[in-house]
Amino acid sequence: MTTAQAPQPGHWLAANTAGQRVPLSGQWELTCRCNLRCVMCYTDCFNTADRLRQELTLPEIIRIMDEIQEAGCLELTLTGGEPLMRDDFLDIYTAAKQKGFLISVFTNGTLLTERLVEWWTKYPPAMIEISLHGFGEHSFEQITRGRGSYARCMAGIHLILARRLPLTLKTTGMTVNRDEILKIKEYVSRLGERYGTKVGYRFGSDIRARLDGSDDVFSYQLADEEIIAIEQADPEFRAERSRQDDRRQTMVRQGQGLCVGGQRKFHIDAYGQLQLCSNNRRESYDLRRGSFREGFYDVLPHFPCPARRPPASETLLSIATPRHAPSRGVA
Ligand SMILES: C[S@@+](CC[C@H](N)C(=O)[O-])C[C@H]1O[C@@H](n2cnc3c(N)ncnc32)[C@H](O)[C@@H]1O
Ligand code: SF4
Repeated sequence: MTTAQAPQPGHWLAANTAGQRVPLSGQWELTCRCNLRCVMCYTDCFNTADRLRQELTLPEIIRIMDEIQEAGCLELTLTGGEPLMRDDFLDIYTAAKQKGFLISVFTNGTLLTERLVEWWTKYPPAMIEISLHGFGEHSFEQITRGRGSYARCMAGIHLILARRLPLTLKTTGMTVNRDEILKIKEYVSRLGERYGTKVGYRFGSDIRARLDGSDDVFSYQLADEEIIAIEQADPEFRAERSRQDDRRQTMVRQGQGLCVGGQRKFHIDAYGQLQLCSNNRRESYDLRRGSFREGFYDVLPHFPCPARRPPASETLLSIATPRHAPSRGVA
């Protein structure tokens, strides 16, 4: 992930709980439903009526939320699929807000309404992240495969900016939009200036397999040289890459794992499965059958994560970070 400085609300606490297992930060995939069908989307294969029937209900979500709050969670990211496809999204959001979580919402931006944005103005999220897949309608809609989705997404972005809500736009860099990343970044920075506010921008460069295991999407993966060329061409990207590499170097030197999944982070899917992280679902704990505490403390530590323990000898080269290093995606 290359980012123009995303906020880190739990940073102080994370630093002060080093070495302890505390579920400070959770990502919750509320649904795999979506009104779009992006070509590379890893959740799209579960955008089916059958999967919809298996989704957690609102009372189940609230019960689990109580449990993660009790366990010490501070930050919650609500994502999907498209989280706004849930009719009860506002109820879920409001319940999370009442419990005091710092909430981020990941959305494609096309389903934002005046009513929702008004609610967010009263009860603001810590961050709204909208995917901007392409520069201009043609490119955007070749990826989303949704006619009119570009105009709707832009309207959503303007609704949010008009209310000065915290916004980050992001792009999953692929073979089909590689020449647009820097143009999008420049556009985002001008957009912020126009509204007199700072709009964040992130660019993800790791394509992941679909949830059903299909790896056809890897055909969209950019080559390392292409990623490096994009990062090197922009001073903010360059500085962020260097910061990330330094941080990783330090962690490796101190013998720490590079992945905090199951240490301070967790992931819950649309069907109530607790996992180490969104990108490691090889084993799960069913929150419909047991408690969050049992899943997080008794079961999750046994999950295998290749990123957990890098060999002490691992060398990290500034910029030439190994392809399968964790968290370079935007999800
Ligand atoms: C799954 S979407 C869910 C939230 C919302 N629907 C959106 O599009 O932002 C979260 C992010 O995952 C990214 N994404 C989707 N499929 C991907 C894949 N196969 N590999 C890496 N990132 C992917 C999307 O571009 C998006 O930024
Ligand atoms: S908008 Fe998000 S969830 Fe929907 S298809 Fe695109 S990447 Fe997937």
